[in-house]
Amino acid sequence: MKRTKISDLLKGKGLGEKVMANGWVRTFRNDMFIALNDGSSIKNLQCVTHEGQNLKLYAGTCICVEGTLKESQGKGQDYELVTDSVTILGEADPAQYPLQPKEHSLEFLREIAHLRIRTNLFGAVMRVRSTLAQGVHKFFAERGFYYFNAPIITGSDCEGAGEMFGVSVLPHADAPKDENGAVDFSKDFFARQTNLTVSGQLEAETYAMALGQVYTFGPTFRAENSNTSRHLAEFWMIEPEVAFADLEDNMELGESFIKYVIGYAMEHCADDIAFLDARFAKEESKKPTAERSDMGLTEKLNFILHNDFKRVSYTEAIDILLNSKAQKKGKFKYPVEGWGMDLQSEHERYLVEKHFGCPVILYDYPSEIKAFYMRQNEDGKTVRAMDILFPGIGEIIGGSQREERMDVLMKKVNDLGMDEKTLWWYLDTRRFGSAPHSGFGLGFERLVMFVTGMGNIRDVIPFPRYPQNAEF
Ligand code: 4AD
Ligand code: MG
Repeated sequence: MKRTKISDLLKGKGLGEKVMANGWVRTFRNDMFIALNDGSSIKNLQCVTHEGQNLKLYAGTCICVEGTLKESQGKGQDYELVTDSVTILGEADPAQYPLQPKEHSLEFLREIAHLRIRTNLFGAVMRVRSTLAQGVHKFFAERGFYYFNAPIITGSDCEGAGEMFGVSVLPHADAPKDENGAVDFSKDFFARQTNLTVSGQLEAETYAMALGQVYTFGPTFRAENSNTSRHLAEFWMIEPEVAFADLEDNMELGESFIKYVIGYAMEHCADDIAFLDARFAKEESKKPTAERSDMGLTEKLNFILHNDFKRVSYTEAIDILLNSKAQKKGKFKYPVEGWGMDLQSEHERYLVEKHFGCPVILYDYPSEIKAFYMRQNEDGKTVRAMDILFPGIGEIIGGSQREERMDVLMKKVNDLGMDEKTLWWYLDTRRFGSAPHSGFGLGFERLVMFVTGMGNIRDVIPFPRYPQNAEF
């Protein structure tokens, strides 16, 4: 017999017929009712066993059941499988299996990331993650973008922050040295210094200068020692790059993109989001009243879909922050120093959560605090940057219009003391047929956090990488 997926059985597929289901036992109640899950739905299939089968079933056991799908007499499910036979495919010794049918802390579950996916919570989060990824490709396909794969190993540091993981096959202990005593990378695998990419943007720009509109969706790596609930050392980024687009177009693209993928997940993961909504409400109720979210999860998602993002210049934002109650009462851990400072996450969240009460697009940042490739404004002080800030998350998108003028870009590269030689191919885009263009990067895990209501980025990626941790 061919197996039927539990998601189909729950809809009544095969009603009245002999069917077969495979899955993992969640619970075995009263030595009679098996709650079976095969990953196809957050909901379990109830399998009714009968005396004489003499079953010893524990949470985690993998089984194959055959029987008849019937309308259920009991509450809680429409259909159930009345079993003829139950075959054990893989035992799970209850004395050793770490997941018990009770609530475990997220910290504990992180230590068993290879098993946490068997919980309702992680099943829901990872199904939503997968669906969001499919929504990403669908959005860009509908808009005529090409999917572009940036290299993972590269010699460049797009963001110029120096937070890179080196890629080398040279021996650590006695690496070959040049005449100055520095490591001689000409002896290395690639005959040059290389690192894991921090962003696929520079390469994507070269493709946008031929294909018009492209996007990357791949892993990126940052060796920043940020032990926060919003940073990972390995995360996935989506980076569209569009020729003939200015900053306004870029903002429109970013806002439409986020709205589309959130709507897509709500449409395709309704059961999971309903589960996550209930969990979110429970978690919020444990917090002190002042810290509670004033909206439920589904309410927050709908709010995003149906409200315009507020567009505010960096200069206006600094004024708002300087005049804020939080600043005057000394509530910020990092007091607002004034124009030119980089915003801390607490400042971003103040603007979004307290001042505007909606997502905010901040634009025209001081050139000093932004990357070399952003387009210089006429004022000589600011660049055409934009960050999209989200409630509970802070920065979810960072992007800009790019500097397409060769002379202005070269001056920037020289002023920053960047190595022109390693950037020759990037500079060629400006040398040959340069065009105005824009793009941004969305941190995929931050999006998954927002949609699932999870509070820690380590719980929305299968095997998180962060300082002191690369298990699994
Ligand atoms: O603002 P960032 O650094 O921008 C870039 O990398 C540009 N090259 C993007 C572009 O214009 N094509 O990063 C973009 C986004 C951030 O807004 C944030 O959502 C996410 O990537 N991000 C991280 N997410 C998780 N962990 C980290 N350590 C992250 N650093 C950035
Ligand atoms: Mg940024």
